[in-house]
Amino acid sequence: MLTYEIIITDCNKCAGRQRQGRRQNEKERTMKMEKLGRNDHCWCGSGKKYKQCHEAFDEKIHHFELEGHMVPTHEMIKNPQQIAGIRESGRINTLVLDYVAEHIREGMTTAEIDRLVDTKTRELGGIPAPLGYEGFPKSVCTSINNQVCHGIPSETDVLKDGDIINVDVSTIYNGYYGDSSRMFCIGNVKEENLRLVRVAKECMEKGIEQVKPWRFLGDMADAVNRHAKENGYSVVIDIGGHGVGLEFHEDPFVSYVAPAGTEMLMVPGMIFTIEPMINMGTADIYVDDSNGWTIYTEDGKPSAQWETMVLVTEDGCEILAH
Ligand code: MF3
Ligand code: CO
Repeated sequence: MLTYEIIITDCNKCAGRQRQGRRQNEKERTMKMEKLGRNDHCWCGSGKKYKQCHEAFDEKIHHFELEGHMVPTHEMIKNPQQIAGIRESGRINTLVLDYVAEHIREGMTTAEIDRLVDTKTRELGGIPAPLGYEGFPKSVCTSINNQVCHGIPSETDVLKDGDIINVDVSTIYNGYYGDSSRMFCIGNVKEENLRLVRVAKECMEKGIEQVKPWRFLGDMADAVNRHAKENGYSVVIDIGGHGVGLEFHEDPFVSYVAPAGTEMLMVPGMIFTIEPMINMGTADIYVDDSNGWTIYTEDGKPSAQWETMVLVTEDGCEILAH
């Protein structure tokens, strides 16, 4: 059986990675600070001198670090050229989900959704990022009802009246990554499940509202968690979001249960996902040990998830995929 230990050490979407991230972060920062002189070219690739480019920015970040906050490494801060590439990838990702929204219907298998996503992504010039990622066998994740995430499309899973399903699309376009997901309600969904889907979307939106530079990822998480709790739901703790753009899953790990004022400082140029998994019952989950991927709610109750990809800007955030 796949144990919890294995999940948290192997996956950079899982809570256990957070601590490694911080240690790595400290090491990298110290190295970078020692190497770069004020007249050297800035680390961002602008070609400008460091003192005329990101020096003041780095000092501001360092000030937060001295106060004990977790802060981003330079690798987590994208330059304008990278942002433009990631924005394009996010745009393709959104178009693929729009296409799914037009075609998804009762009676369709999740394997058909997989073919829709694969075909549309390639038609738009992209590559489906999930295919072959850490051995994932399909081009999209499809998670129905009590499946929390990472469901594997199958010829035998047929969408039936009343199902709620998350379709999680990820794209590689010109080497840049896009990632977002939506819920779809099939036929006549019962009121309590419709409410879960609606509140899960609101949780994501409350999180987005808190994405501002020089605030903390925990501010975003707290907004998500509070809205879920106020509605009687729980937020999955063990799986979170992630930095994204140059790779599929980058640091930081993004929690949706952390208190305000904690977790990593958000600075302009960071790109990460907001993708809380909202459970109707308890937050406990388990992995299907027959495939090593699909996550289920422990209590068998439904779960809903919406995912967006955001860029921290000078005055708030920009949604790069939805
Ligand atoms: N798209 C998922 C996410 O939001 C990642 C799934 S990994 C995969 O991060 F291999 F299953 F695709
Ligand atoms: Co994601």
